[in-house]
Amino acid sequence: MIIFHADSQQFHLYNDQISYIMQVMDNGQLNNLYFGKTIKDRESFSYLQEHYERALAPSNTDKSILTLNYTRQEYPAYGTGDFRFPAFRILQEKGSLISGFVYQGHQIFAGKKDILPLPSTYVYQDHEAQSLEITLFDPITQTQLILSYCLFSDLPVITRHARFNQIGPATIRLQNAMSLCLDLPDMDWQMVHFSGAWGRERYLKNRTLEVGIQSISSMRGSSSSEHNPSFLLKRPHTTEFSGEAIGFSFVYSGSFLGQVEVTTHEETRILLGIHPENFDWQLKTGESFTSPEGILVYSAKGLNALSQTFHTLFLRHLNQSKWRDQPRPILLNNWEATEMTFDQDLILKIAAKAKEAGAELFVLDDGWFGTRNDDTQGLGDWFANTDKLPDGIKGLSEKVRAMGIDFGLWIEPEMVNKNSRLYQDHPDWLMVDPDRFASPSRHQFILDYSRPEVVDGIYQMLVEVIADSKISYIKWDMNRYITECYSNHTPAQDQGKVMHKYVLGVYDLYRRLTTRFPHILFESCSSGGARFDPGILSFAPQTWASDNSDALDRYRIQYGTSFFYPISSIGAHVSAVPNLQTGRVSPLATRANVAYFGAFGYELDLNHISPEEFEEVKAQIAFYKQNRPIFQYGTFYRLVSPFESHGDAAWISVSPDRQKAFAGYYHKLVRVNHMGVRLRLAGLCPDTKYQVTSKHYDRHHYGDELMNVGLVIDRRILNELGGDFTSILFEIQAL
Ligand code: GLA
Repeated sequence: MIIFHADSQQFHLYNDQISYIMQVMDNGQLNNLYFGKTIKDRESFSYLQEHYERALAPSNTDKSILTLNYTRQEYPAYGTGDFRFPAFRILQEKGSLISGFVYQGHQIFAGKKDILPLPSTYVYQDHEAQSLEITLFDPITQTQLILSYCLFSDLPVITRHARFNQIGPATIRLQNAMSLCLDLPDMDWQMVHFSGAWGRERYLKNRTLEVGIQSISSMRGSSSSEHNPSFLLKRPHTTEFSGEAIGFSFVYSGSFLGQVEVTTHEETRILLGIHPENFDWQLKTGESFTSPEGILVYSAKGLNALSQTFHTLFLRHLNQSKWRDQPRPILLNNWEATEMTFDQDLILKIAAKAKEAGAELFVLDDGWFGTRNDDTQGLGDWFANTDKLPDGIKGLSEKVRAMGIDFGLWIEPEMVNKNSRLYQDHPDWLMVDPDRFASPSRHQFILDYSRPEVVDGIYQMLVEVIADSKISYIKWDMNRYITECYSNHTPAQDQGKVMHKYVLGVYDLYRRLTTRFPHILFESCSSGGARFDPGILSFAPQTWASDNSDALDRYRIQYGTSFFYPISSIGAHVSAVPNLQTGRVSPLATRANVAYFGAFGYELDLNHISPEEFEEVKAQIAFYKQNRPIFQYGTFYRLVSPFESHGDAAWISVSPDRQKAFAGYYHKLVRVNHMGVRLRLAGLCPDTKYQVTSKHYDRHHYGDELMNVGLVIDRRILNELGGDFTSILFEIQAL
């Protein structure tokens, strides 16, 4: 799978789906010759590198003509003939930024190493992947650079990261250290990325590449709701079902940069890594820095295939908890029902009704601790507010458990209100520049997780509550971005480490809590879906997708999220109408038909719906329990994009044996006097006869018919079902 040809000095990483070829050039640096669909191995592909002189193009070696600006490189340096953005930047004591890393040797081995304390993809057994570590060395700064590659055996996936070891006596400053660089020989691509804001996370954006730089990024200290650290390039004609695409994803939860640079020679460079702004890592002799992991996925069969690879990778090789492939409990969360105004009696009533409806887990959200009666106070005081909850979390959790339903709890461990006991006791735990105004956000401030003693203090407080109570689920929230990033107890020369060390502190707490409480299901959250990324998924197998659970907005959010993240990782709830965020009223059935395609639950007080609606909820829960594996772990295909045409959407989830599937069709607005919809399905057996049922449909079709002709949806039925914001869930069962 990974071959080194000594004569041509070329590496070929390949499996039956992809080839990745690179070589050691005449100047000792590494260049990329090919990445794409598998090609047969041979001794040399050196014809793929150009060796001719161009105007205004310096040659980097005397041995041959090597114009770096026209060479596709693996980890390019600044200042030696390549005028594109580099993959790294090293500032030396004498002020020079010039570096030159030359090949020293390499190692090929079975399996995949961890990059602790960073999260990364993993394999259980060595035959599932093969790895390559290439060691380069800059003799002037005496810095070692190790570029790591891992090729998964049965997936079109390569992971990468870079490690800098300072060996020489000088101190260097690493001011940029991307996780991956990929140079492609043309610009005939579109960049698809997932951008938005609070309440409209991961909306699909598609732009044709232009000469110059296009990028997505976060400088907010978390991956953010504005841009997601996963994006893709596709050919202009690539569809969901055909054509080339390359996906990029970053196993990291902090500030990031995903950049696509197109040169005036129409070549493309992709860089993905920690955002260089406010990153400045001093390395003394014997110290090292390891970048987080970047992931490359190739698809020759369109975007659904690309997404399915990411789903498989993230499901089988990312999260380490026992929950990673387990059915996720149907939960009811009290946030939208009560916000912070509740007492024990009310909570028990809500939990009891949830149990009656068939829910499996009740989650107590914000407001249970300290003096947390509104968002100006209490944050950081991780002990129960006994005015509201006289029996504490211990007593409440036991009471809820006694009803036959599990108990879960909300926490926001990275934050503090100034009006709290924690702040009184530890005012120096805040991440603020003491000489500057500290910008509040939701009245809260950030704890300095770059300092282990702060993480430790919070860990101790949380352990006390959790260990003492019957808790089987935790929702870990993070409700503001980082400003005035400065660590009070860190020397000046190390302030550029603080942003990254904060993220490492978050991972440290996640690792300690998930190890100490392996039975607990963690769901991450950040004002909804502002930290939905592979780094967090490595610890918390599901993430609350958005604070906006309006059905129409939600199918857009879930549609965008599905490009990279498994359906089981997408927290999706039915909430009350009129919707809290949009005021929109959509049918209960539509709200459920959207939320089924996720980690399903409810976000309302079931005591406040009509008896008919309660019966409907009971039926929804019973139905979901029967079919949960297909929704959460089936093979998922997007069918109709809500970001195109009329805003309708459709998708399907198919069981592994293709005997059963559920397809959801979501209708935005009534279109009077139009023809019916033909919904072409996917993933079925062409020769199998299926029974297709929904409220208004009961027919038999062969799989090929369903996939090529499509299901015919009569517009009058959409109107009968309620018109705007209606939906149909089709059950497709092999006969
Ligand atoms: C954030 C979350 C919500 C809820 C509130 C509580 O906004 O996204 O789901 O937990 O905080 O304050």
